[in-house]
Amino acid sequence: MRIGFIGTGTIASAVVRAIANDGHLITISERSKAFSSALASEFSSVSVADNQMVLDQSEVVFIGLIAATAKDILKGLCFRDGQRVISFMAGVALEDVATMVAPADASAVMLPFPTIANGGSAILALVATELVQAIFGERNRVFALKDAKELDAYLCAQAILSPIARMVSDTAHWLGNRIEDGEAGEEFLRVLVASSLGQSRADDLIAALNTEGGYNQRLRLHLEQSGQSLDTLRGLDGLEQGTLA
Ligand SMILES: NC(=O)c1ccc[n+]([C@@H]2O[C@H](COP(=O)([O-])OP(=O)(O)OC[C@H]3O[C@@H](n4cnc5c(N)ncnc54)[C@H](OP(=O)(O)O)[C@@H]3O)[C@@H](O)[C@H]2O)c1
Repeated sequence: MRIGFIGTGTIASAVVRAIANDGHLITISERSKAFSSALASEFSSVSVADNQMVLDQSEVVFIGLIAATAKDILKGLCFRDGQRVISFMAGVALEDVATMVAPADASAVMLPFPTIANGGSAILALVATELVQAIFGERNRVFALKDAKELDAYLCAQAILSPIARMVSDTAHWLGNRIEDGEAGEEFLRVLVASSLGQSRADDLIAALNTEGGYNQRLRLHLEQSGQSLDTLRGLDGLEQGTLA
C-alpha cells in the first residue's frame, strides 16, 4: 500500500517502524524532524515530504497530530475522495475527524501503543478494523471496538499500564537495594509480570498465587486492605467522569 503519516511524533514513529519492512511505500511528514530523518535514513521504504505531498502520494493516511492542533493543521490541506484516513488522536470522535479530512473517508480511530514497533502489541480499533487488521494484524493483536462508548471505556482502562509500571519500578528499586545486580532484578520482575499475565487470565493468576499464608497472598491482602483496589476503581471512575485532576 501507499501509506502516509501526517505528524511523525512518538507514536507515529513507532507505527512506521512496525510496518517499514512490510513492502509498503511510506511517506512521512517532516515534523518532528529528528524522528522523520532517522526513519528515512534507516528504511529505504520511507521518504519525507511536506504535508500536502504526503497526502498526494498516499492511499491510506494516518493522523499522528496532537488533537488540539489538528483542525488548524489539516484545514490547509487537500484530501481526496477515496483516500482512507486512520486517526491516532485519543479523544477525537471519528465524526470530527471526518469533518477535518473531507472528502476522504475517515475510516478508523486506532490507538496503538509504543511497543507496536517490535510487534506483539495491543491495538484498539474502532470501525474499519479490517483495514487496521490487514496492515498490523499479522504481528499484533487488534481489539475491535463496538462504538465510541467502548472506545472511551478502553481509553480509561488502558491507563492501568502506567500504575502497573510504577509498582514494578518501586519493587525493582526495593529489590535493587538488596541485591548486587539491580538491572537483572528489574528484568526478572518485568519477565515475571509480562509472561504470567500474558499466559493467564488475571483472576486465574490470583487464584494460582493464593497459597495460604504465601508471599503473594500476604502482599495482595495487605494492599487490598490498605484500599488499593478501591482506589483503582475510584480513579477509573474519575477518568470516565472527567473529575480526576
Ligand atoms: N504516545 C502514545 O503512546 C499514543 C498512543 C495512542 C495515541 N496517541 C495519540 O497520537 C497523537 C500524537 O501523540 P504523540 O505522543 O506521538 O505526540 P507527539 O510526539 O507530540 O507527536 C505530534 C507530532 O505532530 C507534529 N506536528 C506539529 N505540527 C505539525 C504540522 N504543522 N505538520 C505536521 N506535523 C506537525 C509534531 O512535530 P514537532 O515535534 O516538530 O512539533 C509531532 O511530531 C495524539 O493525538 C495522541 O493522543 C499517542
